[in-house]
Amino acid sequence: MSDADLLTPPAAVAGGGPATERKLTRALLYLDDVQVTFDGYRALRGLSLTLGRGEMRAIIGPNGAGKTTMMDVITGKTRPDVGIAVFDGVHDLTRLDEPTIADLGIGRKFQKPTVFESHTVADNIVLALKGPRAALASLFGWRNRVPPDRVDELLTTVGLLAHRERPAADLSHGQKQWLEIGMLLAQDPKLLLVDEPVAGMTDAETEATATLLRGIARDHAVVVVEHDMHFVRALACRVTCLHEGAVLAEGSIDAVSADPRVVEVYLGR
Ligand SMILES: Nc1ncnc2c1ncn2[C@@H]1O[C@H](COP(=O)(O)OP(=O)(O)O)[C@@H](O)[C@H]1O
Ligand SMILES: [Mg+2]
Repeated sequence: MSDADLLTPPAAVAGGGPATERKLTRALLYLDDVQVTFDGYRALRGLSLTLGRGEMRAIIGPNGAGKTTMMDVITGKTRPDVGIAVFDGVHDLTRLDEPTIADLGIGRKFQKPTVFESHTVADNIVLALKGPRAALASLFGWRNRVPPDRVDELLTTVGLLAHRERPAADLSHGQKQWLEIGMLLAQDPKLLLVDEPVAGMTDAETEATATLLRGIARDHAVVVVEHDMHFVRALACRVTCLHEGAVLAEGSIDAVSADPRVVEVYLGR
């Protein structure tokens, strides 16, 4: 990344004034008036969202509301036509590519688990600790420098220590999701984006996932997209409801789920 990719707040918020500038530099993630159009379809229509450092946020909303597109903008997969997306006060996400954004400390977990099935649970974590630069590192002889304690620490966090020597293929769907969360944590991201983590999980796994994410949120910022309102309530965090590419409502789970507009477009269906 060159200095040109670092943005000075006044440039990002030209016309926004000092209040906007303060909000931007204090936030871990700052999205303002983000607009994305696919072949004439306006997937994001002026999305604004501010995430504090270390905050956990649940994102709800009907299918097609723009939740995944928002994650695509944050991770650099999709470039907005218009709008501001700033990470950590200085990084203009609209100008950086996906690997650079990942290196800044934004980790993403997609809905479907993507673990290495034929490797053991522990080896999956080892591979993640080596990171995307593993091939380069091995060239310089850093290949074996993964501290074993760190592997067990991560496996303990995600509740899989007892399974460390099993092939990942043997894990249940829920356990694979936890393993993948452990692999994300191995990269020590500042912000974790998690898309529909409990889809297909049993009730017990869903409950355990809420506990796991609350633990992770003690020292990471987390954005969780989820439809399961029982799970969202268990996360005990601020909730944002998206609709038609913008924020419809934001606040406590009680306030958002009692909002007549949220009931109308989402909960009542
Ligand atoms: N690559 C794409 N090309 C065309 N349309 C897309 C693309 N990605 C998303 N969309 C459309 O944008 C809208 C928002 O999608 P998405 O962000 O996936 O919603 P959500 O995750 O809230 O269900 C949907 O109507 C979807 O069909
Ligand atoms: Mg989606």
